[in-house]
Amino acid sequence: MSSVPHAARPGADAATASLVRRFPPGFLWGVATSAFQIEGGATEDGRGDSIWDEFCRRSGTIKDASDGAIACDHYHRMPEDVALVSSLNVGAYRFSISWPRVQPLGAGAWNERGFGFYDRLVDELLRRGVEPHVTLYHWDLPQALQPGGGWLNRDTVDRFVDYAAEVGRRLGDRAASIATHNEPWVVSVLGHEAGIFAPGLRSQKTAMQVSHHLLLSHGRALQALRAQGQRAPLGIVLNQSPIHAATDSPEDRAKARLDDGLTVRWYMDPLLLGTYPADVLEFLGPDAPEVTDGDLADIAQPLDFLGINYYTRNVSGTGAPRDPVAAGTEVTDMGWEVFPDGLSELLRRLHADYRLPPIYIMENGAAYPDRLVDGAVPDPDRIRYLRSHISATADAIASGVDVRGYFVWSLLDNFEWADGYLKRFGIVYVDYPTQRRIPKDSALWYRAFCLEHNLRERRTA
Ligand code: FCB
Repeated sequence: MSSVPHAARPGADAATASLVRRFPPGFLWGVATSAFQIEGGATEDGRGDSIWDEFCRRSGTIKDASDGAIACDHYHRMPEDVALVSSLNVGAYRFSISWPRVQPLGAGAWNERGFGFYDRLVDELLRRGVEPHVTLYHWDLPQALQPGGGWLNRDTVDRFVDYAAEVGRRLGDRAASIATHNEPWVVSVLGHEAGIFAPGLRSQKTAMQVSHHLLLSHGRALQALRAQGQRAPLGIVLNQSPIHAATDSPEDRAKARLDDGLTVRWYMDPLLLGTYPADVLEFLGPDAPEVTDGDLADIAQPLDFLGINYYTRNVSGTGAPRDPVAAGTEVTDMGWEVFPDGLSELLRRLHADYRLPPIYIMENGAAYPDRLVDGAVPDPDRIRYLRSHISATADAIASGVDVRGYFVWSLLDNFEWADGYLKRFGIVYVDYPTQRRIPKDSALWYRAFCLEHNLRERRTA
């Protein structure tokens, strides 16, 4: 058992207590994970392969040549991990469902043992008073669908809708929210254009068609879930950043505007306005996706919430990519610039440009090269990162943006995709050889922060 020990519990310092007071009553604090990154149990109880299992087998795809076969062994340690979540005093836990665990071939038979796992997870969370926030698709498509084209094939939209509806029937009565997709930009561009994530393809045309199918599957899944009378709030999670021009030159400003179109507006416009941005369509030319009549209306279903994942800003221009280290800015172990003001700027901009549903920051956090030292993991940089981004969230709320919750990425160190186990995003350290969980100082800080929030809730109830 690895819950945070009481002796190590720091009280909230004055700065932490005043940060807590900047949030409205009822604000939700949570931690996030995803199935492939933590579960392991890859061949257990009838789970099918996902495209990530297949991708990891190809040489040169994952920096440390690792895979998700064991990961954090969460599949076998779920009750302890839920106890750990609850020991942090958070109100919510965001996790994803592994589609090939519950439907090994991505079509046809459901795997009862797979659903049994998520049933127990949800019940265990509720028993401990933690809200379960479900993501349906965090990148692990059943491998059986890939030879037919995977997300490039429009049939996959129907497969996803069946899967979403089945999860709705099984877990919808207890889920606090259901998000269809996590970061469709990453799936389409990193997976199908840059080729650095599964399934490792390299074509802009393919990537853009995939993005359309992901959005369509989102909208159709929402329709199906609502048709079954689903009461859990329904939404989608997008990764977004403000895009700053590298210089004031007209070329750099035009490039930044285009990149904003490709990353922010390409998703926000169809979801909230029912159109694709004209400038991006024009840029894409023959690489623009095939869109059938009625698709955009299907995509633009009302959202009960919008999830935003924020890590850093983007600086774009026509010259060589900017090196934040050379530019003298602070970076995380991913080489991502620490830029908390980008979060408030992004939220204000979205609020100004769209009629937003309630916003949840579904992921925010940082990787640092953490070391276990005498049984503890001092990670002052991560504490500063979290504090400054939580403060930026409060700034956005003060400007009128309706942000309702914030989830730290991540509960545990885990399989960081193409970086394997080399990057540690957890607020809890995982000693992989023993699978021991050791709360880092940031977990102790967040625990004190959330306790302060809970005490305040009780005082004002
Ligand atoms: C996001 C992913 C998440 C994790 C973080 C660091 O893009 O949603 O799984 O890898 O980045």
